[in-house]
Order: sequence, then C-alpha cells, then structure tokens
Amino acid sequence: MTELPRPARDSWKTSAGFVLALVGSAVGLGNLWRFAYTASTGGGAAFVLVYLLFVFGIGIPILTAELAIGRATGTSPIRALDRIGGPRWRRVGGMFVFAGFAVLSYYSVIMGWVGRVLVDSIRGAIPSDTAGYFAGISTGVGAVLFHLTGIAITALVVQGGIRRGIERAATILMPTLFILLAALAIWSFTLSGAGAGYAFFLRPKLDSLLDGRVIAGAAGQAFFSLSLGMGAIITYASYLQGQQSLPGQAVIVGLGDTSVALLGGLVTFPIVFHFGLADVVLANPSGALFIALPQAFQQLGAAGTLLGAIFFLALYIAAITSAFSMLEVVVSGLIDGWGAPRRRATLLVAVAAALAGIPAALSLDYLSFIDKLVGEALIVLGGVFIAVLTGWVWSRGAAAELTRGFPHPRLQFAWIWLLRTVVPIVLAITFVTTVRQLGPLAEALF
Ligand code: TRP
Repeated sequence: MTELPRPARDSWKTSAGFVLALVGSAVGLGNLWRFAYTASTGGGAAFVLVYLLFVFGIGIPILTAELAIGRATGTSPIRALDRIGGPRWRRVGGMFVFAGFAVLSYYSVIMGWVGRVLVDSIRGAIPSDTAGYFAGISTGVGAVLFHLTGIAITALVVQGGIRRGIERAATILMPTLFILLAALAIWSFTLSGAGAGYAFFLRPKLDSLLDGRVIAGAAGQAFFSLSLGMGAIITYASYLQGQQSLPGQAVIVGLGDTSVALLGGLVTFPIVFHFGLADVVLANPSGALFIALPQAFQQLGAAGTLLGAIFFLALYIAAITSAFSMLEVVVSGLIDGWGAPRRRATLLVAVAAALAGIPAALSLDYLSFIDKLVGEALIVLGGVFIAVLTGWVWSRGAAAELTRGFPHPRLQFAWIWLLRTVVPIVLAITFVTTVRQLGPLAEALF
C-alpha cells in the first residue's frame, strides 16, 4: 500500500501577520499583570533599566536563536532540536513541550479571572468590596468555569490553523489592543494624581538593585514576557517560508513588548493614585489589576463601567493571543510527530490542559508555585539550553540561517559569541537564584 502524502504544512500568509502573531504571543498577562508590580516594588526606573538591558542583551539574542531554529528546521520543537543537535536534544524539546503545556494550564486560570471581571463589569455586578470579590472569584467553581471557557476559545482559534486561525485572529486583535491601551493611557494622564502614579512606578530606587533577587526577577520577567524558553517562538518560526531578517523581527517584537509593558504601567498607576489605592497594590501582586482597578472603575459610575469593560477586554485580548502560542507548541508537536490531524490534536491537548489547570483554579498557592517553577525557573533553564545549542553545537548552521535576509557578518559574530558566553552564564545564575527562592521541594527536583 502506498502511503498517502501528508497535506502541505501550514504557513503564515504575510510577514506582517507573522510579526503580529509573535507580538501577540509576547504581549500578555506578563506585561500588564506582572511587570508593573515587579517594577514598582523592585526599583522603579532602575528596574526598568535593568529590564531593558536583559531584553536587549539576553532576550533578543535568544529570541533570534529560537527564530533561526524554527525557520531552519521547519518543524515543531522536539523534532527541530533533534534535527540540529541530535537525538540527545529531544529531551530538551520534550521539556519545552511540557513547559508550554504547564504554562497554558495555569495561564488560562488567570485569563479566566480577567474574563470574569470583564463579564461582571459589563453586568454591573461587581460589589463595592472588591477585595472580597476577588477572593471569591479567584478560586473555586467559578474560577474553574472561566478557565475552561478560556481554553475552549483558545482551542477554537488554534484548530483553525496558522493562517486561518492564529494569524487572522492576531491581525484583528493586536491593533485593537493597541488602540484600547493607548486610549486608556491618555485618559489616565488626565487624572489628578497621575504624577504621583508615574513617580511611584518609575522613581529610581537604586539600592534595590543591589538585591540579587531583584536582578534575577528582571531577567525572569524579560524571559517570560518575550515568550522565550519553551519553544513557542521556535514553533511560530517553523511556519515561516520567506527570507525575513530574523534580527529585525526580534527587535520589533522586543520593542513592541516593552512598550506595552510600559504603557500598562502608565495606564494603571495614575488610576491607582487618583483613587488613593496604593496600599492595595503593595499588599498583593494581583491587587492592582483585580482589586484596585475594579474599585476605581466602580467609583466612576457609568463611565467607569465603560472604562472597566475596555480595560479588561484589552487584558483578555493580550492574554488569549499569548495562550494561542502555548497551545500551538503542543499541537504542532502532535501534528508533526504523529501525523495527527490538527482538529483532533487541538481537542486532545485542550482537554488535557483544561484538566491540568483545575488545581490552579482551586488553590492560589499552587498557582504561584507552578508559575515560579515553570513560568520562571524552567523557561530560564530552557534558555540556557538554547544558548548552548545555537552557540556551541549548531553555531555554523545558526550563523548561516541568520544571514538569510540579513547579511551582516560582524553582527553575526557578536551574536554567536553572546550566545556562547554571556547569555548562558547570566541565565544559569538566574536559574539558580530562582530555584533557591522556591524552597526545598524545587531544589530537590533539579
Ligand atoms: N509572553 C506572555 C506574557 O507576557 C506569556 C507567554 C506566552 C509565554 N508564550 C509563552 C511565557 C512562552 C513563556 C513562554 O504574558
């Protein structure tokens, strides 16, 4: 019997669509939920400076490396690493797929909170005690239901494929997101108290930079925010066919992602200060978004309902375009590795991720533990492997891939040497620092 030919692999329709999908993956809850909190409590503008250093010195080289691996191999992470590094690297690919799956499982729980607040603000159903409200919606049956809904919408888009699912959604959603956020930032700027908010966010507190945990936090944050270290970028780039300049695209994604993170802070802090809610922000990492902001919007009456709906809609868009990339990592593995049809692969992974996320929807302690373990430690470890693989094992191939559409030999040289030396060392230190904070359980794991 002759084997039926496999259908041609899906691909991006346009370079712009690809870049929007990449920015969609990068811009997410990490920008609007984690960044502002970490910056304001961890050194203000000084933190932002260190963060930028990590984005450009470490993040963009790794982002470029993942793009090169994806485009050169044209296949999902496990097979991609096998192809360029040999069978021993399959295990690292497996770790990526696991990380993608694990992050999706709890990320969609947080996305579920956003969905819940969005629906309740439209219905005008948020009580004045927003702290009690948040405690009620963040765990339990409601949290599970909204988590399941988030996974279902994500799966609906991903089963449509790259071109007709993810690219099409990103092309509509990302410009919408930018417009909504820019409008909100302008409105925030007009509030009295805006100056105090900006100062709280950005006033440089240099002494906090002497704390190794703040530095490691900035590195981990940059990594999470750029969607690195779990094969999401490799997977998206594997659907590329053209001769794009990979460093050029990496820089666009880095700039886009960082500006949304800053914009998020510029939206949030004036509101928080206008309504005198700074204590809430400091008390709880989720306080700014889920307790202070709903309270502020409530005090604004009908206008607040509208502004709240816009804000949480923007947040939901940011989150779901990131969730697409996590789901696609695992789905593309099943398609490329086992020849599974896309629909069936998506359904299978979505059901599994829905189940795996239930513990996170029932316990905040579990959620923050797995966020640190996988969303910080494991992806940074993934980055160490990417650096070693592209810098040492596959450096000729990597250099050749880089020059397609980007003929700058000097930069290519600098890139390889960064990946050989500074990048893996800094990431390894970050990894150890992060695992130390996780306590005995995680130390025993590694
Ligand atoms: N970058 C996204 C955010 O900032 C989250 C994300 C998407 C992610 N894909 C990822 C994080 C891959 C780590 C790895 O919210």
